[in-house]
Amino acid sequence: MSSGALLSATGVTRRFGGIIAVDGVDLHVREGEFLSVIGPNGAGKTTLFNLISGQDRMDEGRVMLEGRDITNLSPRRMAEAGVARTFQHGRVFGNLSVMDNVLIGCHTRLRAARPRVPVVAPVLEILRALIRPASVRAEEAAMREEVRAIVATFGERLTPRLDEPTYALSYANRRRVEIARALALHPRILILDEPTAGMNESETVEMRDIVDALKRQGRTILLIEHKLDMVMRLSDRVMAMDNGRVIAEGTPAAVRDDPKVIEAYLGHATIGGGEPAEASLMPGTSRAAGGVQ
Ligand SMILES: Nc1ncnc2c1ncn2[C@@H]1O[C@H](COP(=O)(O)OP(=O)(O)O)[C@@H](O)[C@H]1O
Ligand SMILES: [Mg+2]
Repeated sequence: MSSGALLSATGVTRRFGGIIAVDGVDLHVREGEFLSVIGPNGAGKTTLFNLISGQDRMDEGRVMLEGRDITNLSPRRMAEAGVARTFQHGRVFGNLSVMDNVLIGCHTRLRAARPRVPVVAPVLEILRALIRPASVRAEEAAMREEVRAIVATFGERLTPRLDEPTYALSYANRRRVEIARALALHPRILILDEPTAGMNESETVEMRDIVDALKRQGRTILLIEHKLDMVMRLSDRVMAMDNGRVIAEGTPAAVRDDPKVIEAYLGHATIGGGEPAEASLMPGTSRAAGGVQ
């Protein structure tokens, strides 16, 4: 299974005090594959994604991307390696415009503005930002053009709001900005943690169509999602977790019908049913407060 994988995580383990949030998980994704991770709240899904994308450090295990060891790299190095993600509770820079939020995603790709020279690179980067030579201005203009194209993927949702600060946007629009920012990275792998959390039915359908379009572009996508309809429609393969471990893996239908999966959900909630309990219990996750963190 691991041969030919674009991203390969093996034996991933993370302990929080007495809790083993992720317990020896193996995960392999092929190029162009759409893999969904499901499981009841507290199963360890977000922690697993945090470990793969460098937001958290694993106690044991290894992650390889295209044959390169990226275990426990910093989020910045992960971004440079081509791992882009969105967050379960949405994270955008509230005081920055839509344009600037998405431009941040382009940062790792800057060449003229970010000279690749040892030691003095940060100083040169500041100088070039102040002096703004023609090469830097041309690069920025090209990136802005690209941001407009990425944002246009979301129809008329964001384009008319490019210059608005994201704190003024609806919750669903902030989540769209997050995806646009991840796409601006030109990721090798796109990691989406519950992109429809907190969205109403029509927003969910719209997001599903956007994720479907990303899949049809041939992107490699890792998705955590509670809404099983989306998982069933989009996934090439599904992995189910409970108590930090993988309890089932296979085609969407096989995993949905697996007795271990049904039992895991029965202990917590119905499969794919409504909002995860944590969304209403945890502070800062309501539609009013969510998004800007
Ligand atoms: N930073 C943390 N400190 C302590 N416990 C944590 C932390 N992050 C997650 N956990 C615990 O790890 C387990 C898995 O959580 P999480 O990965 O968020 O699950 P899921 O995304 O599947 O709902 C839970 O028991 C959770 O309480
Ligand atoms: Mg989670």
